[in-house]
Amino acid sequence: MKKNIILKIEKEAKKYFKGADGCHDFSHIERVRNLALRIGKKEKADLFVLEIAALLHDIKKKEEMKFKGLICHAEHGAKAARKILDKYNLDKKTIENIVHSIEAHRYRNNIFPNTIEAKALFDADKLDSIGAVGIGRDFLFAGEIGAKFHDPNVNIKKTKEYSKDDTAYREFLVKLSKIKSQIITKEGKRIAKERHGYMVEFFNRLNKEVNGIL
Ligand SMILES: [Fe+2]
Ligand SMILES: [Fe+2]
Repeated sequence: MKKNIILKIEKEAKKYFKGADGCHDFSHIERVRNLALRIGKKEKADLFVLEIAALLHDIKKKEEMKFKGLICHAEHGAKAARKILDKYNLDKKTIENIVHSIEAHRYRNNIFPNTIEAKALFDADKLDSIGAVGIGRDFLFAGEIGAKFHDPNVNIKKTKEYSKDDTAYREFLVKLSKIKSQIITKEGKRIAKERHGYMVEFFNRLNKEVNGIL
């Protein structure tokens, strides 16, 4: 029964990602689902709530990008998710927890995750921006906005977001290097420490290679 609901919601969620760019396509949802369940198991979360929240958390991302950030995908996504969830015979507590998890997954909108499921989803989503996956997505994004490959001496104050200078390395210095400190759960922190260390090592090496030292 629960498995069936998850399969139906997964099918429905996929529709929202048609034509999505490589940084925000359905493969991000699949990775977040895997990580969220891994964290959720350790933290004794309700895995049914967590899996559905992971599947639906970014269904309005494409819309946010289309409107150049004028709408908040977490807020709009939570509303759209409620409509989807109403079609199934779920209890109120389950629905509210899923909706809250979606609404609170975004760092910038000032809604703090206050259930263990919301915390696990928040962490899984952030962790997908760091480590080897984070580096890959980082370069992919730089390519999408037409940035150059690398500048080991980039001045983050004198360069701008979404410009040619907004390289993967600049994004690492400005944002990705800070994600570790935003993680909430114990298991999430353990994964973040590992992934963060790998990124630091990668960019150190990249700087040495471009300078001909390695
Ligand atoms: Fe999101
Ligand atoms: Fe996400």
